[in-house]
Amino acid sequence: ASTSATSVSIAGDISSQLHGGYSHPLARSWQAEKQLTKSMLIYPLFISDQDDEETLIPSLPDQHRRGINTLVPFLEPLVRKGLRSVILFGVPMAAGVKDALGTAADDPKGPVMASIRLLRQRFPQLYVVVDVCLCEYTSHGHCGILRDDGSLNNQLSVDRISDVAVAYARAGAHCVAPSDMNDGRIRAIKLKLIEEGIAHRVLLMSYAAKFSGCLYGPFRDAAGSVPSFGDRKCYQLPPGGRGLARRAIERDISEGADIIMVKPANLYLDIISDAKEIGKNMPVAAYQVSGEFAMFHAGAKAGVFDLKTIAFESTEGILRAGATIVVSYFTPQFLDWLES
Ligand code: PBG
Ligand code: ZN
Repeated sequence: ASTSATSVSIAGDISSQLHGGYSHPLARSWQAEKQLTKSMLIYPLFISDQDDEETLIPSLPDQHRRGINTLVPFLEPLVRKGLRSVILFGVPMAAGVKDALGTAADDPKGPVMASIRLLRQRFPQLYVVVDVCLCEYTSHGHCGILRDDGSLNNQLSVDRISDVAVAYARAGAHCVAPSDMNDGRIRAIKLKLIEEGIAHRVLLMSYAAKFSGCLYGPFRDAAGSVPSFGDRKCYQLPPGGRGLARRAIERDISEGADIIMVKPANLYLDIISDAKEIGKNMPVAAYQVSGEFAMFHAGAKAGVFDLKTIAFESTEGILRAGATIVVSYFTPQFLDWLES
């Protein structure tokens, strides 16, 4: 009787013994389905029309708005450390550049068009993504063209945004990433890329599930893109709208997106997981946005946690949820922290 009692208790114990599986650091790393690598990272760059500018953005720790003349010296050491990809945002600073139509967005002499050409030429291995939106270039700061009553004119916006995307692609962008959230812009961009004969060499990454919330503040400081009236709630998704996000993801896949992006990232891990389920045959990207980055810095500064530890933990959450591409302001630090 005593023997059988012992074997029952051992059998019970076996299934409760997990520690051995992760007692060693290497074994702990094996528990993750995906490990963060340098090639998963895309680094955001704010490029102004003041060619020599290098201005620290107060609400976005350690990040600068920079002119085209500072780009190559800044990127050279990062590329040497393994930087594979950047995403460009244009920031017109000169007076009188903005208008109701966002005309400056695809100005051939503008900072984004010039930077695309410069980066392609100077860093042949660097993958150049360009954010496509009008909010940095419109006088009212909204992500499209407006009607007289201030509402978004979706058709005019899509026509214009798809022209801008094609201009960036023709200038040499590997990837165009529309962040405006107008309905039907993925289809319109894809059709124009096909029409131009460049669809085979340009990746279309959709900010498919982009939520309206309070996490873009530091970005809008950096880009000078705070709307002059109203907000973006008529085109960016409501934070509780999980079903709506699923529909937006399905819609953008059916319209020809090559990659689906979810934004923000850490507060929207369920959406990343939905995106991976819906888009199981494509890569999913997540944008750890300016407010999330600033929040982690503030927490570290307040002694709540260590910055490097939260940078890894937050990114592991994003990978676990299903993304394999991460847009992050931590990228330069990850290049120092990661081995590959
Ligand atoms: C422009 C755009 C924004 C971000 C990326 N593209 C701002 C916005 O929609 O207001 C936010 C990125 C960040 O906060 O880091 N449409
Ligand atoms: Zn915008």
